[in-house]
Amino acid sequence: MQEKILILDFGSQTTQLIGRRVRELNTYCEIVPYNKLPEDLKGIRGIILSGSPYSVYDEKAFRTDLSLIRGKLPILGICFGAQSLVHQFGGKVEPCDSREYGRAHLNIVEPKDPLMRGINEGSTVWMSHGDTITKIPEKYRLIASTGDVPAAAFHIDGEQTWGVQFHPEVFHSEQGTLLLENFIDICGIKGNWTAASFIESTVAELKEQLGNDKVILALSGGVDSSVTAVLLHKAIGKNLTCIFVDHGLLRKNEFENVMHDYEHLGLNVIGVNAKEKFFSALKGVTDPEEKRKIIGRGFIEVFDEEAHKLKDIKWLGQGTIYPDVIESLSITGMVIKSHHNVGGLPEKMHLKLVEPLRLLFKDEVRRVGLELGMMPHLIHRHPFPGPGLGIRVLGDITEEKVTILQNADDIYMSLMREWDLYKDIWQAGAILLPIKSVGVMGDERTYEYTIALRAVTSTDAMTADWAHLPYEFLAKVSNEIINKVRGVNRVVYDISSKPPSTIEWE
Ligand code: XMP
Repeated sequence: MQEKILILDFGSQTTQLIGRRVRELNTYCEIVPYNKLPEDLKGIRGIILSGSPYSVYDEKAFRTDLSLIRGKLPILGICFGAQSLVHQFGGKVEPCDSREYGRAHLNIVEPKDPLMRGINEGSTVWMSHGDTITKIPEKYRLIASTGDVPAAAFHIDGEQTWGVQFHPEVFHSEQGTLLLENFIDICGIKGNWTAASFIESTVAELKEQLGNDKVILALSGGVDSSVTAVLLHKAIGKNLTCIFVDHGLLRKNEFENVMHDYEHLGLNVIGVNAKEKFFSALKGVTDPEEKRKIIGRGFIEVFDEEAHKLKDIKWLGQGTIYPDVIESLSITGMVIKSHHNVGGLPEKMHLKLVEPLRLLFKDEVRRVGLELGMMPHLIHRHPFPGPGLGIRVLGDITEEKVTILQNADDIYMSLMREWDLYKDIWQAGAILLPIKSVGVMGDERTYEYTIALRAVTSTDAMTADWAHLPYEFLAKVSNEIINKVRGVNRVVYDISSKPPSTIEWE
């Protein structure tokens, strides 16, 4: 059994971040909603209690009876988690006079405490709470304070239970990772999680789960579905069949290049050219959501048709990753994206789902891919939306417009690689605007399309900033596009961040 740290989620926006930090320390952890504490704690070596949007004394506050776990295994309460450890056991938590947000500096009261090992006096921590602990119960010892917060960190005597009112998981807490590492050391499982160990145990589990059953998988050219395919292939070999649909809205030469890569990886891939079907279904449609629906539906039809040509398929492989899983389990249900392109497929086809990456974060998927020997260019690819250029040709879509966009986008992306900027960017692409404007070329007046360039930096696509690309680079891209792509006489650069804009224009 994979030993782990359990993170009980009380709804904080930074719960996922706690998970990522623990995994970055090569330690396996899982996030579960606060009310899903397993009765059997076997395999769990420590528990982290997350923060929460609520106050502990709120009627609506998420409550878990912490006496069920106290003293049984190491516990670290963060913010609301720490306050719950106080509130439930006779201490006091009250609203602060002024909400405590932002940077603070630690005074270490007990430098010898194992949680504080190596943490420097004055170390910056990030506070974000409207309540504060005003009285700690008996047997609770203060181990660190800040100027405004006497109980910044405490340790319960005779137990491996700690609480910190700051957020060690956020970037601004200077030695936050060290503090989490100290906790993981206390739990005694540091380093039990690597790409190689994941591959070994997952392949063994897949063999057991799938036996001699046949699996079908939709490939998109993206990292998640590609790594899923290679992992499944390693487990069940030729019993995996992959389908890669060309809806005509891929990047220039993408279909051929990616097919070539997949074949090189030894995958059994059926490439389907369905361009005509998609172009005719999209004819005259301008509404972005409508376009998405048509493309999603078309995709399911093509996939279903191909799958029916095969025999005895029992499973559908999917490249679902951990953030999607957490989001769908989310107790606060705040973020719901409408991006799941193949949603509805398993029900329609009566197949069971196999999702070998469902417990991995994106950066871990990449590490697993590299460990599996996949080509770095396939692994470090920018995300690309399922509806492809269909949502980057604004307004109605024609084959001619898609070709113009493919050519402009290809110049942009090739130069981005040439200038070694690709790896620093989360995602980039060109957009074809549905307006024409006047220009002059030689002695002639032109009346042609505008291309917008988009490039953003981000860590998870939930928020993003426009990338500060060098002017010289932008000048070169603009020149090349206007000179080489017939039909374009103007190039603009998008300088909007998300929020309030989004990464894609539609
Ligand atoms: P937005 O535009 O919402 O995009 O800021 C966030 C991320 O999601 C991608 N995206 C999609 N991916 N189907 C997808 O598979 C979609 O319909 C879709 N819409 C946006 C987008 O490229 C970015 O990475």
